Amino acid sequence: MHQVSVSLAGTILATVALTGLTAAPALASTHGARGAGDRYFPLQGNGGYDVKHYDLRLRYDPASRHLRARTIIRATAKKRLTSFDLDFRRNLRISTVTVNGVGAVFHQPAALKQELVVRPFRAVAKDKTFTVVVRYAGTPAAITDPDGSVEGWVPTKDGAFVVGEPQGAPSWFPCNDTPRDKATYDFRVTVPRGVTAIANGDLTGQTRKGRWTTFRWHNREPMSTYLVTVTTGRFDVRTGTTPGGVPYYIASDPKLTAKSSAVLAKLPAVTDYLAELYGPYPFSSTGAIVDDASKVGYALETQTKPVYDRPPDELTLAHEAAHMYFGDSVTFKRWRDIWIAEGFAEFSSWMWSEHTGGKTAQGFFDTYYKKKATSSVWKPPPGNPGSAANLFSASVYLRGAMTLQALRVKLGDATFFDVLRSWHQTHRGRNVTVGQFRAFAEQRSGQDLSRFFDVWLVRKAKPTSW
Ligand code: ARG
Ligand code: ZN
Repeated sequence: MHQVSVSLAGTILATVALTGLTAAPALASTHGARGAGDRYFPLQGNGGYDVKHYDLRLRYDPASRHLRARTIIRATAKKRLTSFDLDFRRNLRISTVTVNGVGAVFHQPAALKQELVVRPFRAVAKDKTFTVVVRYAGTPAAITDPDGSVEGWVPTKDGAFVVGEPQGAPSWFPCNDTPRDKATYDFRVTVPRGVTAIANGDLTGQTRKGRWTTFRWHNREPMSTYLVTVTTGRFDVRTGTTPGGVPYYIASDPKLTAKSSAVLAKLPAVTDYLAELYGPYPFSSTGAIVDDASKVGYALETQTKPVYDRPPDELTLAHEAAHMYFGDSVTFKRWRDIWIAEGFAEFSSWMWSEHTGGKTAQGFFDTYYKKKATSSVWKPPPGNPGSAANLFSASVYLRGAMTLQALRVKLGDATFFDVLRSWHQTHRGRNVTVGQFRAFAEQRSGQDLSRFFDVWLVRKAKPTSW
């Protein structure tokens, strides 16, 4: 019903525009672009606006896998918008969309897997902040990535494991799904009593009503959509503060608490060590979520609280913790530049091993450097993975981390760690490219590194001299 009346309003507006006012330039129809221009994911993200804040309200029943939700998006128009797109997959049923409180016409083109086209009753003026409210319900469907892995809203025995890299977010909330559009978040997640709902940022409230519990989370520092989680299930929770002063929230599936507690107990020390290495921790809190979701096959650096599909080993814990600096705080502009996250996180896990008296970063380098020129350690080059299917290939991580260890040897520890620390400090909260890092490292170290980076990041062959 609602949709019908709204469509009529839209028709009336269109009619008015056609009868006499079409010539007025202010009324020219201007649509925000359908994608944000990423070559790996052309439909991802949208043009014409910039999201400032998401307010997500969700009710999830793990038994029926039913989700009912309302997303409020507060955004600023970068141009006059007579219509715009959000990224949202078609598996959930939308009941209403409003823009600035007024019903809007919307549709989800069948030929496009993630576009929700919204036509406000009144166009949004350039530079104006506007509010979109989308109400929807249904059973979220997990999605399969170009590399064959599963992501999005992944049901577990007692809840859902929610991960969004590189494209899972629009399977459960409408958004501008590009790493470049960071925003703050509020979450209000209602789950059956006994289930815990964990999202990014800080817990700001927990209330019970009948059979249901509502958890409120606030994520203060801007976050890219691929880093959002609202993981639910039965969890044992420990909270505290690291000796260096960072609050933490650590949750584990009760079946996995015994198996994961020794490694999780290292998180405070890992967090404080990374702050020594790279400078002040970039977010208001840290943490970890260990769930029983091994069919996922990977962990993800969801902002402030990485999620683990099983009990992590220490290297994985350090890798995800390091992503808070590289990936989450300093984020790539486009997927091709994934090395800026994965190479740095992997290298940092080697540093943690070295710091704790285990294998040194050079030891890891030597182990992998022995691999034959035909090994998957070398292909594709980390600075140009070539396609979305190769984003998380071994070479992006291993050759990617070796690049940094080779740079460390070339520059010496003092200069090298100064480069990484100042890189994070300079770009924290922002988006960057591999090219920017290359230029930054050269400028900060005063050395010509163009051949070095070409050999390690761009050329296909195994590096032999640099
Ligand atoms: N960024 C994650 C990690 O290294 C891996 C995500 C893999 N995702 C995927 N769809 N294959 O820590
Ligand atoms: Zn990673």
